[in-house]
Amino acid sequence: MPAELENIYGPLGFGDRVLYSNFVSSIDGVVALGSSPSAGSVISGRNQADRFLMGLLRAFADAVLIGAETLRATPGHQWTPEHIYADLAAGFAELRNTLGRKPRPRLVVLTGSGDIAISHPAVAVGATIVTTSAGAAALGGRLPDSCELIEIGQRGAVDVKRAVAELRERGYGAILTEGGPHVMGELIEGDLLDEAFLTISPVVAGRDGTPRPGMVAGAELLPGRGLWTRLLSARRHGDFLFLRYRMNNR
Ligand SMILES: NC(=O)c1ccc[n+]([C@@H]2O[C@H](COP(=O)([O-])OP(=O)(O)OC[C@H]3O[C@@H](n4cnc5c(N)ncnc54)[C@H](OP(=O)(O)O)[C@@H]3O)[C@@H](O)[C@H]2O)c1
Repeated sequence: MPAELENIYGPLGFGDRVLYSNFVSSIDGVVALGSSPSAGSVISGRNQADRFLMGLLRAFADAVLIGAETLRATPGHQWTPEHIYADLAAGFAELRNTLGRKPRPRLVVLTGSGDIAISHPAVAVGATIVTTSAGAAALGGRLPDSCELIEIGQRGAVDVKRAVAELRERGYGAILTEGGPHVMGELIEGDLLDEAFLTISPVVAGRDGTPRPGMVAGAELLPGRGLWTRLLSARRHGDFLFLRYRMNNR
């Protein structure tokens, strides 16, 4: 790691083939706020240390994997290190260069419906869309040439194991997922997640009827199948906690 990054976070590294997640949660376990856009920014209060960590984790990644709902909930966003933390763009670029990564991580979007806004800047600049034949038909050839379409299966949900295998075949060894919770649920059910980074923001979000999921949705594990983890590091910046876990099945 370049010294200017290591001095902030401490030493960090990954194996060549790794799938790791990054979420920010309120202290009462909320990561998404219904129809409110950009839940992560709202929950973190645009905390600079959290934005730095998002940038750092993106800087290590060959690809950033998200669900279509997260794309739709974050208009105007770019899933790059420099977009989230511009001040250290040069350090992030140096890290990517040292690791032999391409200049920017590839955005990968999972969609069954094919309902992808091709005008979203992160799509327009070039993304990989993973969908079914039905999803591809719904997209109807609207994707710009900068994009790649991967078709898996006929309709419904894509088999995420096959999706990750296709990404690995394309050379995306280090994959960061920034969710959302439903994609996380599938990655965990598919036994694909190696590590989870979790920022605890010192805020109470609350719940009242509208679903406000935690980090994992669509997969129920406890009491029978709890996925236990090992705490690899716990860092504190002001009132924020930055936790790194390894899945025990690794
Ligand atoms: N706090 C944080 O750190 C954080 C991080 C990320 C996201 N979020 C928030 O989380 C919310 C979105 O999360 P979410 O759980 O509702 O949705 P999500 O996981 O982002 O996306 C779900 C969508 O992804 C597509 N998808 C997922 N798995 C698929 C599969 N196997 N095959 C095909 N398509 C698949 C489907 O898209 P189609 O509908 O197109 O079929 C599905 O509706 C947003 O509010 C966002 O702001 C928060």
